[in-house]
Amino acid sequence: MAEEDSEFGGFDLGEEEIKTDSQSERVPTGIKGFDELCGGGLLKERSYLVAGNAGSGKSTFAIQYLYNGVTKYDEPGILVVTEEDPKNIRKNMKSFNMDLKELEDQNKLAILDSQSTKIGLPTDEEYVEVNPFDMDSTLKKIVEIKEKIGAKRCVFDSTTSLGFISESQKQLRINFLKLSGTLSAIGLTSMLTAEVTDKEKMSRFDMEEFVTEGTIRLYYERKEGIRTRSIEIYKMRGSDHSKKLNPFEISSSGIEVHPKEEVYF
Ligand SMILES: Nc1ncnc2c1ncn2[C@@H]1O[C@H](COP(=O)(O)OP(=O)(O)OP(=O)(O)O)[C@@H](O)[C@H]1O
Ligand SMILES: [Mg+2]
Repeated sequence: MAEEDSEFGGFDLGEEEIKTDSQSERVPTGIKGFDELCGGGLLKERSYLVAGNAGSGKSTFAIQYLYNGVTKYDEPGILVVTEEDPKNIRKNMKSFNMDLKELEDQNKLAILDSQSTKIGLPTDEEYVEVNPFDMDSTLKKIVEIKEKIGAKRCVFDSTTSLGFISESQKQLRINFLKLSGTLSAIGLTSMLTAEVTDKEKMSRFDMEEFVTEGTIRLYYERKEGIRTRSIEIYKMRGSDHSKKLNPFEISSSGIEVHPKEEVYF
């Protein structure tokens, strides 16, 4: 674990020092080893892209951010699920000893089911998006939930669904801007996940990294017969951050990043 250096206002990661400044309000993710890679956390009320290939850990990373928000920082959160059954998500997170249902029962976490109506399945979820193909409707729903539970954090998993509701590249970009801009404007610090298939790319539609405040890239690459997980902060507007690829693990306690180690591939 990196130690905070109060004299220089930075984080010492061995050869790399990440500077932080007292002006910017930070929102810690609480994910072990991650916050020191970016001066203490995300910048408040901004939207970040969490991009990665299948199984790279996008959902776990983003939902752990929400879970920590409630349990460590008393910041309620909203999880918008566009392509998975919320019940499976609760089960998956339980395997990390993170009980989402408990937080939902306390009105500290809300899961907005934006997939059931889309695929024509009935749902008994408390929060359901009945117009999943309409960006404005989804945003309205997020605003309502935000007011109800006093949310400070939001996760939109995943933004691939925006491709289905946008008829052109122009419309897609507008929808993306609308999503990230509205979440920021209503005071949420957010993570938007993106499925990426090409190792060299930072996003699905080749533009999301331009319309979000930062991009966190997760990799799950095979190296010498074994797949290694690594994380890269590719961009973070307004903040110093690590330029390295740091390894991380997913274990029974969730994600842990190793900020002093590097990965090459
Ligand atoms: N309890 C656990 N212990 C250790 N590793 C786990 C555990 N649960 C899941 N994993 C690992 O995490 C991976 C899934 O992570 P996650 O669902 O966050 O990825 P993702 O990037 O969101 O995937 P997708 O693109 O399919 O949505 C699994 O494939 C598995 O390797
Ligand atoms: Mg996922």
